[in-house]
Parts: sequence; structure tokens; C-alpha cells
Amino acid sequence: MEIPAELGRVLVIIPTYNERDNLERIVGRVREAAPPVDVLVVDDGSPDGTGDLADGLAETDDHVKVMHRTAKNGLGAAYIAGFRWAFEHGYDVMVEMDADGSHQPEELPVLLSALTDADLVIGARWVPGGKVLNWPKSREALSRGANTYSRLMLGVPLHDATGGYRAFRAATLQKIDLDTVDSRGYCFQIDLALRALRQGLKVVEVPITFVERTHGTSKMSRDIIAEAMWRVTRWGVSDRAAKLRR
Ligand code: GDD
Ligand code: MN
Repeated sequence: MEIPAELGRVLVIIPTYNERDNLERIVGRVREAAPPVDVLVVDDGSPDGTGDLADGLAETDDHVKVMHRTAKNGLGAAYIAGFRWAFEHGYDVMVEMDADGSHQPEELPVLLSALTDADLVIGARWVPGGKVLNWPKSREALSRGANTYSRLMLGVPLHDATGGYRAFRAATLQKIDLDTVDSRGYCFQIDLALRALRQGLKVVEVPITFVERTHGTSKMSRDIIAEAMWRVTRWGVSDRAAKLRR
């Protein structure tokens, strides 16, 4: 399967925080699986030197770009900075991908093919054909729980609203008002999916195989879970209040 040329210029954005043992492999796999696409590494000043490593990769490959940020500011903030960079540099499609090998670059053509007939494509785990390898039961329960709660609270017709492997058309991100997004952690993913749906855009889920990392550690934390809980609850409650007023 090829990358559909009609989509235009594609940028894969990879946010990193302490991903020294993963970066070279993931960038290499993207370049191999999808030679025409460019890669932007958005590093939040990783103490382990991931940013320097990224600079080294960019030196030897024109398709690799690096953005250095000064502090760990959350996944959402890193992606928004990456999206802005992509707008400034004229990309037509922006892809989100984790650095740790959980998202398979070899599945990029599947996501991008689906985008030819959609505004946002989410690589989904909790759909028929979707798989998760090597996740502890506790992590699976957290992800399924977050998705069930989002469906009930927000009425989103999605099975993996927190999934972090996605492809956006630039036009989709233009319609979502990024200036007003203040989700910092992983609830950023729910936020953007919800905004796209509320704009009446076509959001499609395609099954992916998610593989838990073998190097480094997850940045998931209690703070990130707490932020997601209160934001989803607040969005749901203000939604209901608005409906009552009508
Ligand atoms: N620049 C930057 N700043 N990068 C970050 C930050 C940050 O504050 N926090 C995390 N990252 C990067 C990591 O380095 C990695 O490349 C990617 O974001 C995902 O982080 P992980 O820590 O590996 O996430 P996970 O495996 O626990 O969570 C996965 O599942 C979540 C829930 O379904 C991800 O796919 C999330 O996107 C998803 O929401
Ligand atoms: Mn991970």
C-alpha cells in the first residue's frame, strides 16, 4: 500500500521526552515505511539527550526536522507547537505518532489511505481488528475506562478517543481553534476528537496494533489522569447545561 499522493505534503510529528533509546529506530522506520513524508521531532529539553540525538539525525537526513522546547510542558502543548510549525511550512497533513514504537510506522499507509475520505483518522485499539500487545491489565482497564467514560459523558461515537496515532488534514486543524485548546496531557486527544466532531467533520477509526514500549518509561501520571477526568466531566456537564437552556 502506498501513501496517496493526492493528500499532498505529509508531516509526522513525534513528541519526545527522554526517548534516547527509541528515537533513531522510530525515525528510521518512518523513513523506510513512508519515504515521501517528513518527520518533526518535538523535544521538551529531554535531560537524557534525546534532543541532541534528533539534531544528529536531522543533519544526515533532509526529511528530519527538530523543534527544541525548553521545558516538559505536556503532550498537548508539544503537538500544538508542532502543528503551528507545520502550518508555517505548508504541510497538508499532520500525523501524530509516539516515539516509543507503540505506533507502527508500517501502518501509516492504512491511516493515510483512510484520510482520502475523512477529515481525521484515528488509529484505534478498541475496535474489531485492533490489537494491544504487552499491556498490563491495569493499563488496558484505564484506557477502556477512559473511552467508556468519554462516550457516556460526551456522547462521542468513538471507541478510541484517547488514541494517539492519528492523521489530520491541515484544514481540519484550521477549523479546530487551536488557540483555545488548553488540555496539556493525554486528554488533548479527546479534546481534539470532540472538537472535530462538533465541527461536523468526518472522523474515522481504523484498527491498529499498539505495542507497548520495550525501552524507556511511560509518561502517564496521576496528574494526567486527573486532568482528563475533570476536563471530560466539565465538558460533559457544560454540554448538558447548554441543552437544558435551549
Ligand atoms: N515533548 C513532549 N512533552 N513529549 C511528551 C511529553 C511531554 O510533556 N509527554 C509524553 N511525551 C511523548 C513521549 O516521549 C512519547 O513519545 C509520546 O509522547 C507518548 O508518551 P508515552 O508516555 O509513551 O504514552 P503512553 O504509552 O503512556 O500513552 C499512549 O496511550 C495514551 C492513552 O491511550 C499514547 O499513545 C497517548 O498518546 C495516548 O493518549
Ligand atoms: Mn508509550
